[in-house]
Amino acid sequence: MAPPKAKPITDEDGNVFRLLRQLDLAPEASQRSIAEALGLSLGTLNTRLKSAEAAGFIKISERSGPDRRQRFAYVLTPRGAAEKNRLTESFLARKLAEYEALHAELTGTASGLVPIKHRTELMQNNLAPISELYVSYESAQKLKVEAGNLVSHDLSPRQICDLELLMNGGFNPLKGFLSEEDYNGVVENMRLADGSLWPMPITLDVSEEFAASLEIGQDIALRDQEGVILGTMTVTDRWTPDKSREAEKVFGADDAAHPAVNYLHNTAGKVYLGGPVTGIQQPVHYDFRGRRDTPNELRALFRKLGWRKVVAFQTRNPLHRAHQELTFRAAKEAQANLLIHPVVGMTKPGDVDHFTRVRCYEAVLDKYPQSTTNMSLLNLAMRMGGPREAVWHGLIRANHGCTHFIVGRDHAGPGKNSQGEDFYGPYDAQDLFREYQSEIGVEMVDFKHMVYVQERAQYEPADEIEDRDNVTILNISGTELRRRLQEGLEIPEWFSFPEVVAELRRTRPPRAKQGFTVFFTGLSGSGKSTIANALMVKLMEMGGRPVTLLDGDIVRKNLSSELGFSKEHRDLNIRRIGYVASEITKNGGIAICAPIAPYATTRRAVREDVEQFGAFIEVHVATSLEECERRDRKGLYKLAREGKIKEFTGISDPYDVPADPELSVETENVEVDNCAHQVILKLESMGLIAG
Ligand code: PPS
Repeated sequence: MAPPKAKPITDEDGNVFRLLRQLDLAPEASQRSIAEALGLSLGTLNTRLKSAEAAGFIKISERSGPDRRQRFAYVLTPRGAAEKNRLTESFLARKLAEYEALHAELTGTASGLVPIKHRTELMQNNLAPISELYVSYESAQKLKVEAGNLVSHDLSPRQICDLELLMNGGFNPLKGFLSEEDYNGVVENMRLADGSLWPMPITLDVSEEFAASLEIGQDIALRDQEGVILGTMTVTDRWTPDKSREAEKVFGADDAAHPAVNYLHNTAGKVYLGGPVTGIQQPVHYDFRGRRDTPNELRALFRKLGWRKVVAFQTRNPLHRAHQELTFRAAKEAQANLLIHPVVGMTKPGDVDHFTRVRCYEAVLDKYPQSTTNMSLLNLAMRMGGPREAVWHGLIRANHGCTHFIVGRDHAGPGKNSQGEDFYGPYDAQDLFREYQSEIGVEMVDFKHMVYVQERAQYEPADEIEDRDNVTILNISGTELRRRLQEGLEIPEWFSFPEVVAELRRTRPPRAKQGFTVFFTGLSGSGKSTIANALMVKLMEMGGRPVTLLDGDIVRKNLSSELGFSKEHRDLNIRRIGYVASEITKNGGIAICAPIAPYATTRRAVREDVEQFGAFIEVHVATSLEECERRDRKGLYKLAREGKIKEFTGISDPYDVPADPELSVETENVEVDNCAHQVILKLESMGLIAG
């Protein structure tokens, strides 16, 4: 990590810095003790307080309570806090420079003499404290109260991840969400307006309405999803970005098959806000607390352990033997200690959840020689941006005190584009990283694709095997691993550690033990409920998993009693069913749903909800309208024809026939038992019930 640029500090800066730091540390102190702490007369202090107030750095108010010994109360404004952060950085840089000069003098290097062996070594830049955007605990308590009166923005999960790394220095040198000028520089040529390297736009996207309600220069409170104020931001910039340009430049293509491009167009707000951030508190994490470290905590840990060189391994996947071998080799090559630094913020949709992964990492950690390796969790929201993302990851690791970084084949790759081709070349990330390596401030250790050589019973880099024609090379791809897990097949010990496989099997049991949803759809009176009931009984007879029937009528009585049959209400009804079914599926049960569900788009949305957790089997009960009307078991068709029931499906409201259901059953001249049996056969063929 390059040292922060040591800007010359004027006396005036020094005075402001000392005052702001004092008020930040002891906002409750009396004027007299502030003056004493700063070595000033009361008169000089007053002048400085007044000018800080005039600059908008502090707010002075009269105390209202009975304690009249302290007449005035002081609080840092968000602008004051940002100024304090800016000046802190200059002071840190100056102190480091002074320290280095002193060290050089003490050890003799300054005078060209042979250095004296000194007990202390020079503190490396990667281990020196890094500046954060937080105010002191005392100030935060006050600022929080003040911020309660500000207009609030509720942060999205991705923005919370970004904010955490902004506030703790993980995104150093950023001091807030990007301004328009910085954004343009980052998008166009990976540089902030001041020329610093920064490849990823860190933007605060909001809705048009919210953006329009703000004034430039206004402070806003940034809240998490429970409403806790994590920080404030002074809005200096507001603009409507050209998202297609951002997609093209940053991710290489305006293609929604790229997860970050999809997010950009379909999730992110239309307008961006930029401005400096003041940190009040870290986002709260209840999981794996002991494994989460800020950049300064990691730097302190490395100082304490005496780790001079640290190679970081970034991952969003479970670690198997090949990874262990690779990280071993990387550490050996760099003669460095190893930091396993997995991302637990947001990764690629469909990845193994971080809870499972961390349990896997913990199991693997025992396999490394003690005290050479550490693990820390990084709450980063990945963008899957390949080459640019690799550079970004390098900068983040530099901020976390690392000196080396492993960049693999297809680093942070997003998968295939909408033409079925890779977005980036397999070594694009390594090439870009190499180009910017000295500016990033960490050295790249390039990932070797490791394969298992059976005859030698060891992993070797694929491109270094000279006798490849005479040996057996084994490898299991990610897709093959998923298939084996899904079907409960063997996963050999040469591929992974038994503890890791056991952990993965716990989370991804074979299909025959996973939950799933059978979703019947069809016209009123088509026979959905009758077949669904028969299916439920058959599944219960088999046993093994709990079965829940969410029949149309039952749901409308219990979950959706206030709803009618407008499009909006039907959608709501089906989404509720989908939500319950996805929860049942997640928890390993079987959900059988039997609503009409007339709209294809809503059925697709429910499928997406459920498929995160297990299989979704759409069964079209394809009884024709004529037959349903002929049966008219509830007498509703007659009423609908007479216009006494409005918006009746098939008569006065549409029914989208499923285009591609897993199964379509005819009910005319077919017994109910047979219809239910067809579903059972389908479930068997999909591996969902044991044959
Ligand atoms: S939907 O569209 O999926 O929300 O409908 P659903 O919850 O399955 O409810 C359908 C049952 O409500 C009765 N009913 C109507 N159906 C369709 N259209 C209108 N306007 C209507 N009004 C009442 C009908 O009995 C349906 O039950 P089933 O079991 O499908 O015959």
